[in-house]
Amino acid sequence: MRKIVFQREQSEAFVITEAPDPVPGPGQMLVRTEAVGVSVGLVRMLRAAAAPEKDPGGEIVGRIIALGPDVEGYVIGDRVGGVVMEGAFSQSVLALPGLVSTVPGEVEPSVALTLVRGGLIALSALHAGRFEPGESVLVTGGASGVGHLAVQLAKARGARRVVAAVGSHGKADFLRDCGADEVVTYAQPSWGERPDLILDGVGGELVQLGVEALAPYGRLVAFSAGGGNVDASSLLGNLKTVIGFSIGLIGRQDPGLIEQRRAELWRMLAAGQLRPAHKAFPMERIADAVELIETRRNLGRVLLHTN
Ligand SMILES: NC(=O)c1ccc[n+]([C@@H]2O[C@H](COP(=O)([O-])OP(=O)(O)OC[C@H]3O[C@@H](n4cnc5c(N)ncnc54)[C@H](OP(=O)(O)O)[C@@H]3O)[C@@H](O)[C@H]2O)c1
Repeated sequence: MRKIVFQREQSEAFVITEAPDPVPGPGQMLVRTEAVGVSVGLVRMLRAAAAPEKDPGGEIVGRIIALGPDVEGYVIGDRVGGVVMEGAFSQSVLALPGLVSTVPGEVEPSVALTLVRGGLIALSALHAGRFEPGESVLVTGGASGVGHLAVQLAKARGARRVVAAVGSHGKADFLRDCGADEVVTYAQPSWGERPDLILDGVGGELVQLGVEALAPYGRLVAFSAGGGNVDASSLLGNLKTVIGFSIGLIGRQDPGLIEQRRAELWRMLAAGQLRPAHKAFPMERIADAVELIETRRNLGRVLLHTN
């Protein structure tokens, strides 16, 4: 099988090599991948001061080609998707049943890949923010893999108004197609009507800007790896809340909930309520995929086809 090795020192940052299929141990499944995701998380890792992981994890969709001992509920040939902790950028990868779940056979690989993690995070962030129909929602990183689905989900779940916030106005048409009532840029002096809920997938200074933009009793869900600080005194007067969210804890403590939420995403997809957007590259074009995110030009999920 072929895999991408990530390196910094050599002239080529990404090298495609041949490697033997890994052998699944107890509780592991071997998955032949159809598509793997490329995201800002990978870009952060590649640009961090520490040397990049050679074999990073990520989101995948594929078919089970071998099972280790003690795997229950799956057979060879089943289609699965979700997250693996390492070796994602490969044609064959080891996965754990708790982190992946069944993908319906009729959903094409790119669409499935866009939903298995991005849709899960978007839906879970809405839950974390205690979203109620009739509320107004603002999504930062609105055109990202997670963000564009958060816009669609908020709309489908009965938001009164959905605003997408982005780095540049060039993403406005895409976001209106996703159902956004308004598109604002981070740099605008005002983001308009105060939202009840902000889903922040960017972090940094947008966390405090978001808190200040919230309506009374408003909540901001901080789910990015982009950091940021909150001035607690800015929460008091209008009874605002900042909620931290990461899928990791739910994955470890309640994998059934993840399966349930993905099942809801497949149902909404089949009902035409979700339109996952993606830009696909062949595996050999990993550098172009990374560049698209690094220059913040992606509309929806960026992914690689691996077969
Ligand atoms: N909490 C969790 O469990 C969890 C799980 C997965 C992902 N996440 C977070 O969700 C957010 C969205 O992830 P994603 O995979 O959907 O993103 P993505 O598809 O890779 O989208 C990248 C977009 O995000 C925006 N962005 C914000 N900060 C950036 C940066 N430092 N470098 C490049 N682009 C940046 C850019 O749009 P603009 O220029 O328009 O802002 C860019 O076009 C990320 O912050 C990620 O850390 C959280």
